[in-house]
This record gives sequence, C-alpha cells and structure tokens, in this order.
Amino acid sequence: MTIRSSVPVSRRAFVLAGAALSLAPGLAAAPLRADDTRALRLVAARGRASLVGGAHPETAVWAYNGTVPGPEIRLRQGGRLRVVVENKLDEETTVHWHGLRVPNAMDGVPHLTQKPIAPGASFTYEFDVPDAGTYWYHPHQRSFEQVGRGLYGPLIVEEREPIAVDRDVTWVLDDWRLLADAQISDDFGNMMDASHNGRVGNTVTINGRIRETFDVRSGERIRLRLINAANARTFALDFNGHAPQVIALDGQPVEPHAPADGRIVLGAAMRVDLVVDMTGKPGARFTVRDTFYRGLEYQLLDIVYGAEPLRGQPPEGPIALAPNTMPEPDLKAAERHEVAFGGGMMGGMMTAMMGGRRMDMRGLMQNGMAWTVNGVAAKGHVHDPFLTLARGRTCVLALHNDTAWHHPIHLHGHSFRVIRRNGAPTRYREWQDTVLLNPRERAEIAFVADNPGDWMFHCHILEHQAAGMMGVIRVA
Ligand code: C2O
Ligand code: CU
Repeated sequence: MTIRSSVPVSRRAFVLAGAALSLAPGLAAAPLRADDTRALRLVAARGRASLVGGAHPETAVWAYNGTVPGPEIRLRQGGRLRVVVENKLDEETTVHWHGLRVPNAMDGVPHLTQKPIAPGASFTYEFDVPDAGTYWYHPHQRSFEQVGRGLYGPLIVEEREPIAVDRDVTWVLDDWRLLADAQISDDFGNMMDASHNGRVGNTVTINGRIRETFDVRSGERIRLRLINAANARTFALDFNGHAPQVIALDGQPVEPHAPADGRIVLGAAMRVDLVVDMTGKPGARFTVRDTFYRGLEYQLLDIVYGAEPLRGQPPEGPIALAPNTMPEPDLKAAERHEVAFGGGMMGGMMTAMMGGRRMDMRGLMQNGMAWTVNGVAAKGHVHDPFLTLARGRTCVLALHNDTAWHHPIHLHGHSFRVIRRNGAPTRYREWQDTVLLNPRERAEIAFVADNPGDWMFHCHILEHQAAGMMGVIRVA
C-alpha cells in the first residue's frame, strides 16, 4: 500500500530535525467524572497545543476544553451522561458519541438527527449508557477538518466489576499533517487525499503529543485502551518483547486472545483494549513499532522499565470481561442484504449515481465525490435510506469492498458481530462498531436492528466519508 501525501511520512521528522525533546510527559487533563446530578461541559474552541514539544512552537488546534485530546469522560456502566456542548468555533458543529448505543436524537449527525449547533450556541446531550467499554466522541460536522484539527476525546464506561490491573491507561492515537513550523497543513478536503488513502499525516501523537517513552515496572499488569482518532491512518502496533492479550474490540468484550501475527491493528475510529503484562527485567527497554504501511514503518515509543520491580511476576487473575447488553442476532431468521463499496483510484469504477444523476468518474471528482455505497455517491448527511429494517429483526449485511483500498466501515446506533470474512467464519465472532475491510475483502456482519431511527453507515476515513462513502440505514 502506498501513501500519497504532500509531505514525507515520518513521526521522527521533528525529532530528527529538532533539538533535544523534553521527555516530560504532557500533563493530561483530569478525567471528567459524570455523575447523575451534574451536566459536564464541553467547549469547542480554537486553542494551542504542544504536539511536538521541545523547542518547537505550539500548534494552533481546535479543541474541547482547551486540550487535545478533549477531557477523558468517565462514568459507570448503567449511568446517565449529560453533556452541554458549547460551540465557540466560527462554524457549526455537533458531537457524535462513537460506539455508544444512544437514542437517535442524541447521535450528533447534522440535519439527520439534529440541527447543527450554531457558533455561539449550545446543545445538551443526555442519554443512558447501557454498555461498558472504550469509546470516544468527536464532531460529525465537516469532521474531516474538525477532527483533523484536534476535536475528539476519550469516553470510558467502567465495568460494574472491572478486572484487576495495576494501571488503566488510555492512549488516544492521532496522526497530524504538520508543516516545518509545527502548524497544521490546511490542505483539508483535497481530492488527492479523498480519492486515495485519506489524509495520512506525518506526525503521530499519543494523548496529544509525540511520546518518546512509556514508563513501566517489572511485574506490572496494565490495561491499555487504544483509540484511533486519526482521520485516515491505520495502525498495526508490534509490542516487541511482550505478549498483549486483546480483551475488547471497539469497547465490546471478546474472548481474550493474542492478536493475529502479533500485531494490534486499528483502522480509523477503532478501539482495542489490551492487557499487557510487563515481563521485562528492571532497566530493560523495548521499542513499540507501527508496521502497517510497508516501507513506512516507524518507532512509536519505547517501553522503559524502572530499576525497581513492582513484583516478581505479573498477577495471574482472570482478564475476561463480562459481556455487554447487545441482543444476540438470530441468524436463522435473519434478513440478508448485500452492500458494495466502490470507487477510488485503481478501483475500476466507471460511473455512479450522485444526486439522482448518473456520472462518470470525472464528473464525480469535479463534485468532490470519489466513493460509493451500492453505486451511489452521497453528499452531505441527509439521504433516503438505502436499507429499511424492521425493528427487532436480525439483519446480516454482506459487505464487499470492491476497491483497491482499506476502509473502516462504521454503523451508528448498533454494535454488530463480524461473523465471516472472505467466506470463512471468524474465530471470535467479535462485536464491533467499525469493521476494517481490506482491499477486495468481503465480510458479513450481523445485528439486531433494535434501535429506531435513521443511522449513518459510512467509511471512517473521514475524507472517504465526505467524498461519498456513506449511506443511511433506517430502523423503523
Ligand atoms: Cu465516529 Cu459517523 O462516526
Ligand atoms: Cu474508506
């Protein structure tokens, strides 16, 4: 897979070019605890963040409550979340609670589920949270730019009975396209990104800054919650020298297992919860690498062991999480639909429908479109549903990626089981809300359509979504 971008892709570009970086960890904002009496406040506004650190200037960003990522919101499973979102940007916005099964009116999709929040205005989101897990929040209005400039944050729903670990750590991964002065390149929404890999950047941050090290102690057991908040980049992390166990995907518990090929793969918007036992010796150092794009591998950071062990060896307690509350799909009674994803460069797509008219690729590109769902390139958020599902029915969607590119495909309002890939049953029948389709891959997903409303179904490479790769599924 090649990456086309106007700047070379290397996280270390700044490190290599610049003076010594400060190794002090960035100060993370204290988590916002949601309890039942008080509404949290999220203010979306321009701000500045020290993404690169060291002698480099701060980066002008758009941020929630002045930090990138926005504050970590934490609440208990079964709790109720109330958030007042104030828009201090110069343009409309919304907040989408990615992966949470919320009522349709709280889903944050402009015009489809709510009027966007005007500059200077605010909107209160309020809903019950049925499932534990690792989620995140982000705007859904011009998200390719709003998320790309730093508007996103983690949302952690704690289990009623959590597993025992020494530390619960969140890493929000992001990928920025920075210029030499550490400012964000403002070439958002260009057709080159839109019709290829999306906006893959040149600087990877963890919790809003370039990290050199992650300090651990021998014998420690860490729950590591990975969230991919990048517009487009897929990560494939190799925890060299360690044997992480995957315990949840997209927030949903999965039978604990070692990842395939030893690599943790996260497409845009996806989450993976790991249990990582720190089995190295005091003073040891291991490099975590991201090896997803061939020829563009880089070192994410080093795991650095302190001189003092925490204990002789990591604990052996159970790491399986209690199941969440999604209804089990009834495959025998399922209705089945095919969904084909098309378009992009080298995909062989000749024509597609846009706004009720058939157009060739050139005409589509002139309209900023490059991708389709079932032959239709969708502009904006409001469309007649391409599927209407009876409420309570099990639905199997057979997804075909008819393109030469990866696509993380996200369904709003539901989690689904991934039951087959390229015809073969999946080993863990994992629950996800975003399924990463490899080029030309087929996957079958199954879910009970139990949440009424109009729900987006789209690629979470935000440039692909904006360039047509989305549709609406109605549950009625
Ligand atoms: Cu994370 Cu439709 O969004
Ligand atoms: Cu895509």
